[in-house]
Amino acid sequence: MSSELSANDRAKNAAARRAADFVKDGMRVGLGTGSTAAWLVKCLGERVRDNGLKFRGVPTSTRTAELAREVGIEVITLDEAGWLDVTIDGADEFDGDFNLIKGGGGALLQEKIVATASDKMVVITDPAKEVASLGKFPLPVEVIPFGMRTTKTLIEDALGSMDVSGRDVTLRMNGDAPYVTDEGNHILDLHLGRIGNARQMALTLNQLPGVVENGLFIDVCDVVVIGHSDGTVDLRDITSTMAKQARPSTEKNENLFTDLDG
Ligand code: A5P
Repeated sequence: MSSELSANDRAKNAAARRAADFVKDGMRVGLGTGSTAAWLVKCLGERVRDNGLKFRGVPTSTRTAELAREVGIEVITLDEAGWLDVTIDGADEFDGDFNLIKGGGGALLQEKIVATASDKMVVITDPAKEVASLGKFPLPVEVIPFGMRTTKTLIEDALGSMDVSGRDVTLRMNGDAPYVTDEGNHILDLHLGRIGNARQMALTLNQLPGVVENGLFIDVCDVVVIGHSDGTVDLRDITSTMAKQARPSTEKNENLFTDLDG
């Protein structure tokens, strides 16, 4: 099979297969969205069918829910699961601090809720998505349809005083109509080029009325599995790369907004 796949798909497939090893009998597992996550769901379906693996999956989109059911995975809601042992998902970008941009596929809201409700989040990716600094990939921001133009203006105003290389904000389209998320919202893509302070950006965006969630995943990811086209994988685990306690603190004296106007 692998010879029929593109180099990129071989890399994604390799990452997905390795990450599937994190899923053990009895677990409640968050299932991501996107082309890499689809490889994972198919691989887990094979293990259910061929190896008798028993777990329950919480999908992060209607697309993933359909695929999971198709391949024989037992699907439950996040509220039924309560809490998850592990979530495995793709990413659009990741940096050396295990921070991510997600939402290229439009499912960032459920993805963030599900990943945050997990003991461990494993990202599956190919090497091309690693960046020194997040922001080359347009940052998706989910906004409610009501007053969307006003929300866009508020975002543009906020970007004016932030450390970024670009400030274009575009409405994601699906043909001639705005793209609609699983929750009935729209997505604004922020073309920032480079985000100087991703933590500050995430907090600032989420304070604006009309913004539901943004695609920055800060302090959420624990493991990155990088697949290569030759079938090998690199696995980076945050516990061996940096102690979780050493992650930047948002408490005490640190003022995240010092470089904002006003
Ligand atoms: C879906 O909303 C996204 O967060 C995806 O997880 C991300 O875009 C990665 O997708 P691919 O695996 O298709 O690149």
